[in-house]
Amino acid sequence: MKKKFFASLMAMVMVFGLAACGGNSEPAAEGDGAEGGAGGKIGVSMPTQSLQRWNQDGSNMKAELEAAGYEVDLQYAGDNDIPTQVSQIENMIAGGCEVLVVASIDGSALTEALKGAAEKGIPVIAYDRLIMNSDAVSYYATFDNYKVGQLQGQYIVDALDLENAEGPFNIELVTGAPDDNNVNFFFGGAMDVLKPYIDSGKLVVPSGQTEKAQCATANWSTEEAQKRFENIISSVGYGPNGVKLDAVLCSNDSTSYGVQNALQAAGYTADNMPIITGQDCDKPNVKNIASGLQSMSVFKDTRTLAEKVVGMVDAIMKGSEPEINDTETYDNGVAVIPSYLCEPVVVTVDNYKEMLIDSGYYTEADIA
Ligand code: BGC
Repeated sequence: MKKKFFASLMAMVMVFGLAACGGNSEPAAEGDGAEGGAGGKIGVSMPTQSLQRWNQDGSNMKAELEAAGYEVDLQYAGDNDIPTQVSQIENMIAGGCEVLVVASIDGSALTEALKGAAEKGIPVIAYDRLIMNSDAVSYYATFDNYKVGQLQGQYIVDALDLENAEGPFNIELVTGAPDDNNVNFFFGGAMDVLKPYIDSGKLVVPSGQTEKAQCATANWSTEEAQKRFENIISSVGYGPNGVKLDAVLCSNDSTSYGVQNALQAAGYTADNMPIITGQDCDKPNVKNIASGLQSMSVFKDTRTLAEKVVGMVDAIMKGSEPEINDTETYDNGVAVIPSYLCEPVVVTVDNYKEMLIDSGYYTEADIA
């Protein structure tokens, strides 16, 4: 794979080096994308427009790539529609894209479609979610997904003071789409923190649903998470006047929102809500953090991820080495993919203004 990739890289360096630098095949200097930039068309494939984060990811990527002098073919695959994503990627390959940036719906469903990219020597960057079982993947840019899970687990440990309190405490577990490789890291990271307490009996899972497959939520859907949680509430008998529920581990905000809906329908309010985690700092969830319905979210600044990926694209197009900081963690079944992991940060009622508003990520009005 490497050989093919570097051969094509060299070909690109020559073509774009010549085009950009008027016959000088030296890679262009950093930061001169817009004027002397390599140019060329970049395909960006996003999974859905139905979740806020992917709209932000898509528009950030487009704006930053265009600012760096590239033409962008940005496509959203309907609402997580795998055949749509496959055909959009095939069109990008046929349509002359020179690098592909792909946030997959099902990480294992793109093997065939990406064969065309490998054949044409088109480098593929897996965006946020790893693309599995494909030798076409050159790089991966994401957040430290294992750390996201650890932060959520540790938040619960600290909030319940599990080190000192006697317990036992009741907890339920909710994670995301089973075809998203990130789930292994989110759920795995959280469970590595929580499992010792479950094993010792300080944490109890009254539904008995502790396996990843039992806790999964198809497509990370709010409605699916809500339905599953309504069933758990009625089968266990949770309620403000019923069985006490102390915490719910939710791997992200869309599922957390569904759980909060189910709990509110069962009579819970901001005054007696269990501890509930999340991820993404979606606007409705930040509002719920402010009002006390959700305890925390993990902030993954999509501007940072977009900036890193644009840097990777630019380096590839200019024939230099993209910045990576992890060469061990992400094995896609064919190879360990060189990765750049951005840092996730815990957001609560105490720091959301500083992290989200002062940083310019949201306006006051966005989350009023
Ligand atoms: C992303 C999360 C997101 C989830 C649902 C995951 O792969 O890393 O940020 O909440 O997908 O879209």
